Amino acid sequence: MTKLIQNINEMKQTIKTLKQQNKKIGFVPTMGYLHKGHLSLVECSKKKNDITVVSIFVNPTQFGENEDFDKYPRDLERDLKLCEEAGVDYVFAPKVYEIYPEGYSTYVIMETLTDKLCGKYRPGHFKGVLTVVNKLFNIVQPDNAYFGEKDYQQLIIIKKMVEDLNMNVNVVGCPIIREEDGLAMSSRNKYLSEEERKSALSLSKALFLAKELFEKGETNPQKIKEEMRKLILSYPLVKEIQYIEIVDPKTLEEKQKVEKGDRVLLAVFVGDTRLIDNIEL
Ligand code: PAJ
Repeated sequence: MTKLIQNINEMKQTIKTLKQQNKKIGFVPTMGYLHKGHLSLVECSKKKNDITVVSIFVNPTQFGENEDFDKYPRDLERDLKLCEEAGVDYVFAPKVYEIYPEGYSTYVIMETLTDKLCGKYRPGHFKGVLTVVNKLFNIVQPDNAYFGEKDYQQLIIIKKMVEDLNMNVNVVGCPIIREEDGLAMSSRNKYLSEEERKSALSLSKALFLAKELFEKGETNPQKIKEEMRKLILSYPLVKEIQYIEIVDPKTLEEKQKVEKGDRVLLAVFVGDTRLIDNIEL
């Protein structure tokens, strides 16, 4: 049975009791509207922990003013059913006013890594992510926490926060789960019309092309990126390519010459929906 907890103190009390029983706690933070990508993290957690906690919280501080906080898809009942089927022990779904009560004023700011890639186009986004993840870690006190490589920059930044702040949690990265045709699963795919859904395929197609070009011997990032750009812009409902970058997987610095293990990342607007994806070379 999955137990729903919506109150911070109740979650803390529950964790305290579980810790007294020496239970190993696995944690999967999410913003809900769950899909197989999220559930793959649950699966990873269940293999290595006694108890799996999933949080569902659409975090207002990581959304910019003109972003989709209000229309972000929410369906707690559906999520609970999926968690039940996946064997989640606890769903923690706090209210915004409890996580950010009036007068709330403490944030986690990272001086590197957060100004690149998505951070360049979403100022303040990673400040919001790091703050809420830090708070959730303090409440749930997990032994292991699971994050998807789908949000690759987020994963790297959270690993760095945990290291920089000596936090007692092991951050585990898990592979990207895709639809059969290659589209990376995302709660935001719900925004896509039928026609946009076809153009959304441009992201994964471009990433697979990059991998193919690299495997055929191309090491010039400009050439790979140019081919990717051409492919993406050939899809009719692509509105804007925000970035395509080939970076070092740890420092996220752009590469002059591409090597095995580098990461290709991109953000593309299909209609009004901003999609991101990435691949390891
Ligand atoms: P959300 O977008 O709901 O994603 C929750 C977790 O699921 C993240 O670690 C994300 O990388 C992972 N995920 C999403 N799609 C995936 C896919 N197709 N394959 C594998 N993993 C996938 O990321 C957030 O929420 C928030 O920023 C959060 C960390 C919860 C902080 O608010």
